[in-house]
Amino acid sequence: MKVYFIGAGPGAADLITIRGAEILSRARLVMYAGSLVSEAMLSHCRANPLIVNTAKLNLDEQVEFYLQAKERDWDVARLHSGDPSIYGATAEQMRGLRELEIEYEVVPGVPSFVASAAVLQTELTKPNISQTIILTRTSGRASPVPAKENLRSLAAHQATLCIFLSGANLPEVIEELSFHYPKDTPVALVQRASWPEERSHRGRLGELLSQIEPRSWLLTTMLLVGRTLDENIVSESRLYAADYTHRFRRATKNEPE
Ligand SMILES: C[S@@+](CC[C@H](N)C(=O)[O-])C[C@H]1O[C@@H](n2cnc3c(N)ncnc32)[C@H](O)[C@@H]1O
Repeated sequence: MKVYFIGAGPGAADLITIRGAEILSRARLVMYAGSLVSEAMLSHCRANPLIVNTAKLNLDEQVEFYLQAKERDWDVARLHSGDPSIYGATAEQMRGLRELEIEYEVVPGVPSFVASAAVLQTELTKPNISQTIILTRTSGRASPVPAKENLRSLAAHQATLCIFLSGANLPEVIEELSFHYPKDTPVALVQRASWPEERSHRGRLGELLSQIEPRSWLLTTMLLVGRTLDENIVSESRLYAADYTHRFRRATKNEPE
């Protein structure tokens, strides 16, 4: 018996990994948070699994299901949206499993900030623009952000920022970012990337709030910020330049004098 923490990806049923889908196709017990993992994902399940929506269960109640699965020698597929290592509340589950000496394994998934970049058809790292991606969020009741990671201090880097779990705080977020990012910095909102309801909005930091209805972006929204989102800025890596030689390819043109 084993518990598999599986990254279900951002939503679309075909964005789970082959490994994750294979485990789902044989697990007798499937646990998932119904608010974040789409029901379409359950199409990968075997016939008649026991399916538990964890949205209304506390940690002890979830652990009780793990114990029952252990008694029956059932493998458990525990689905988490995106990748389980990011805002997944998996640490406490894993600690509980270690205490109970239940074996577990983690199967990675496509994180939502990556799926959001795909929606925007953009590269989040561009030479000389930004080579750093900061993943962060605003504080929630369940998970406070340490004071030293406050948004204003992160904004000082002017790196590419991907802000999770903050749709309800957009005005405050924009205010904090404006201390360091210029008002014409490109920003984008992506909601429910890869779901049928997917939508996105691109704008500039200083005008975003006048262009959108913030209350319609409360849930399952990613805010991306930074000059890498500007598709008009020409910034190319030398990696594929014809006059650039590296370990695996010789230049076909001379380097400019
Ligand atoms: C509890 S966190 C889970 C993050 C997840 N583990 C991951 O790797 O993306 C939920 C937040 O992730 C973001 N999110 C999750 N799925 C998303 C999607 N399909 N589109 C946009 N943002 C998403 C939103 O910011 C949402 O509030």
